[in-house]
Amino acid sequence: MTIHALIETARKLVGDGRGLLAMDESNATCNKRFAALGIEQTEPTRRDWRELLITTPGLADSISGAILYAETIHQETTNGTPFVKALVEAGIIPGIKVDIGAKPLAGYHDEKVTEGLDGLRERLKEYRQMGARFAKWRAVLSLSQGQPSPACIEANAHALARYAALCHEADIVPIIEPEVLMDGTHGIDACQDATSAVLQSVFEQLNTQGVVLEAIILKPNMIAAGLTCDTQPSLDNVAATTVVTLLRHVPASVAGIAFLSGGQSAELASTRLNAMNVMRKSVGARVPWPLVFSYGRAIQQPALEMWHGEASNIAAAQRILVHRATCNHAAINGEYNAAMEL
Ligand code: G3H
Repeated sequence: MTIHALIETARKLVGDGRGLLAMDESNATCNKRFAALGIEQTEPTRRDWRELLITTPGLADSISGAILYAETIHQETTNGTPFVKALVEAGIIPGIKVDIGAKPLAGYHDEKVTEGLDGLRERLKEYRQMGARFAKWRAVLSLSQGQPSPACIEANAHALARYAALCHEADIVPIIEPEVLMDGTHGIDACQDATSAVLQSVFEQLNTQGVVLEAIILKPNMIAAGLTCDTQPSLDNVAATTVVTLLRHVPASVAGIAFLSGGQSAELASTRLNAMNVMRKSVGARVPWPLVFSYGRAIQQPALEMWHGEASNIAAAQRILVHRATCNHAAINGEYNAAMEL
């Protein structure tokens, strides 16, 4: 594949008005979400949940790509169709999370660096052969007094850039996810400062590694106050501050922006994405990238709560899933409103 084909894939993922379904929770994270609802935490149960997601009728109307996990990419539907094939047949591009998680950063209390570069070339080759056309790597940066530190920012940015270069070598579009966590009591200004420093470093490192920006997708946090901050900013403030921060630090050549939801409620994640796209429409060409979603919790959680591990709830859970996907699809066009909610 040439870089042109990668650019084409990136555009299909973020440029046709649809967004991404992040269903790449590690086993530990998936089990944690199951445990909170009293759902059995086993490999067959995780497979059942992922089959429910993948086989949801009408999902491809709003979802361009789905991010799988190492366990999930090897699984099949009940009738023996590999998940990757089921996605392709539904019109959804399969992707794969390839980092192996955020580990303690030596010498820096409570900060993390994402690992997974060792052997990544071989794993990417295998995933590409299995049908993955894009990948994801998530860096996790917490925000509190003195954090994220310059050391944490640089270590994570460097790893993201090395990962992206290896993806291009393997004919895979990299999603670059430098997540400044929304947990905490910080205000929106602190989030803006931290996110600005992180994005600045990420693009410096991507340039150093010679990564072609037209063939990457950025998956950032929105710029917002911490989830437990007493003073929550207005919708317009979140939308304007997020767009302005991206304009300052993200080159126009990047294929697109696909936001993570980061623990916001499903409805808030739709509302804020919508507000940014309303703004995008009003300032037109000044915002050079599509602004879409790559949500995990904000799409899955309401459906997971309905499913509860019960086969009899599958159809109802799928209706809720497709509803959330439809709301976020509308938000990409700036056409979401509260009246759409059930
Ligand atoms: O890495 C995190 C997921 O890809 C996005 O999850 O939308 O729940 O933050 P989230």
